[in-house]
Amino acid sequence: MCGIVGYVGSQDAIDVVIEGLRRLEYRGYDSAGVAIVDPAGGMRTERRAGALSNLDKQLAEGSRIAGNVGIGHTRWATHGAPTDRNAHPHVDCSGAVAVVHNGIIENFAALRERLESAGHEFASDTDTEVVAHLLEVEIGSTDTDLAAAMRAVCSQLVGAFTLVAVHRDRPGVVVAARRSSPLVVGVGDGEMFLASDVAAFIAHTREAVALGQDQVVEIRSDGYTVTDLQGGTTDGQPFHVDWNLAAAEKGGHDFFMQKEIEEQPTAVADTLRGHLVDGRIVLDETRLAEQDLREIDKVFVVACGTAFHSGLIAKYAIEHWTRVPVEVEIASEFRYRDPVLDRDTLVVAVSQSGETADTLEAVRHAREQRARVLSICNTNGAQIPRESDAVLYTRSGPEVAVASTKCFLTQVTAGYLLGLALAQVQGKKYEDEVAADFAALEAMPRLIAQTLSTMDPVRALARELAGSETILFLGRHVGYPVALEGALKLKELSYMHAEGFPAGELKHGPIALIDDGMPVVVVVPDPGARGVLHDKVLSNLAEVRARGARTIVIATAGDERVRRLADHLIEVPSTPTLYAPLVTTVPLQVFAAAVADARGYDVDKPRNLAKSVTVE
Ligand code: G6P
Repeated sequence: MCGIVGYVGSQDAIDVVIEGLRRLEYRGYDSAGVAIVDPAGGMRTERRAGALSNLDKQLAEGSRIAGNVGIGHTRWATHGAPTDRNAHPHVDCSGAVAVVHNGIIENFAALRERLESAGHEFASDTDTEVVAHLLEVEIGSTDTDLAAAMRAVCSQLVGAFTLVAVHRDRPGVVVAARRSSPLVVGVGDGEMFLASDVAAFIAHTREAVALGQDQVVEIRSDGYTVTDLQGGTTDGQPFHVDWNLAAAEKGGHDFFMQKEIEEQPTAVADTLRGHLVDGRIVLDETRLAEQDLREIDKVFVVACGTAFHSGLIAKYAIEHWTRVPVEVEIASEFRYRDPVLDRDTLVVAVSQSGETADTLEAVRHAREQRARVLSICNTNGAQIPRESDAVLYTRSGPEVAVASTKCFLTQVTAGYLLGLALAQVQGKKYEDEVAADFAALEAMPRLIAQTLSTMDPVRALARELAGSETILFLGRHVGYPVALEGALKLKELSYMHAEGFPAGELKHGPIALIDDGMPVVVVVPDPGARGVLHDKVLSNLAEVRARGARTIVIATAGDERVRRLADHLIEVPSTPTLYAPLVTTVPLQVFAAAVADARGYDVDKPRNLAKSVTVE
């Protein structure tokens, strides 16, 4: 949510900043803007509503902006409509300070009132603009440096923020601060970068520094200084980025989502790698003793969006393998209903970005109640893993498309790993059973690749159904979260109405929606699935078909009984029941992307959405 870039060095700042923003556009694309400081004197600010391409066009029409110091912003609007006047950067009364911001300043109304009565004039409806005026006050007519002013301003702010500022009269520096929103420093040779995400500067350097809560950083071409809000010098956390520029590029695909769907076999294999050591499942990080995990008697999974669906799948695996009850909850609901938590509760926070505000607040609530927190996260060093007792990293690499695909499959995979780890530590599975389950998981990347190689008919079907008004998705057991995920993907990308239901629940209401010719996608379990699962779903399939539905059936290759009930059959390889989502989700992702494409929409950047939502 909102992408931020800062640069000091010897290159033309405008090029570095715009390129960085392009890589961060997944964070928001309501408007974009830059401020560039020219050491020869002066500062130029340009901003424009709409996608970055609008700003690009505006820049191409004007004279070239000179300067080696700059900041930039791509916005996902919270306070103030996505207009030119609300686009960042925001400046103070004198136009000397420019600020970009990600997050929400909760006490901005009181601050604005105070500033206005002191004579400050505001030019936008944003919460951000108060920071520009507060910096103006702090700097005043003195020679206070920008970092000191930023520290003084941050001490007055309530809320979550990443702030980055430049000053016309302090040309060699960019200053930034963070509280509960992401900010990393990129360390180059004679140049330094600031960004919400390393993707912004990966073309220039792979050496980065993560910043902690309430830290202020000043970057210069020759280095950087980190301080706390009291001005004490402190350290950031240096790290090396282990993926390269190619991972952040489309690599010949029409859109990022297509590339990321194709990357799923590798992402799942990478997520599994190294997690079975000497017969034991190991986590990536843990500050918990084995005894703590042994005593867990209740699990809550908290997450949002697609990550929530991965949690629903984890429930089936964890409960089946450990007999420990699992509840799965939308993170934004969790703390408000005062859930029953204690030291023997494990709260599992699932988040691709590791910065989703709703999930982060759920983690904080859980910790306040003394529960243990384990996070499943794709971003090293993000806030959620930092505030967790243990971490399992999904190793998907950068996911740029707003709609999550490879991260969903790796979150599902990490959920299985967690289930096996808990079962093992709690003595519910012997070592050889864990090894067998792990080996079956290791076979999944090959089956995902096999599924991906048969997707052309799915794309053709998507084009055929692109004009539909509604599509329903049905599933049972682990097929139910898959149905929910299929419906979510379709609605978020194609703006078509879609709903996912438990197949058995249909007859209790939603069946009334079925109309002649309405497409209904049914996720059928493997015929070898435990109990009567397969038979039951076939009955549900027959029920909708009898009412005129056009059935699109995802079933195991060779499942002959399903054939006569399917208007369109999409075959996937046979898998163990619990692991089926790793293959059955794939056609639904491909389908949603193809419908959106056929309807002429931007598959990577659906309207109104942002990939990372850092406000509650
Ligand atoms: C946003 C995105 C979703 C994502 C959700 C959770 O709403 O649009 O695609 O699933 O956030 O994000 P997280 O980073 O916590 O997994």
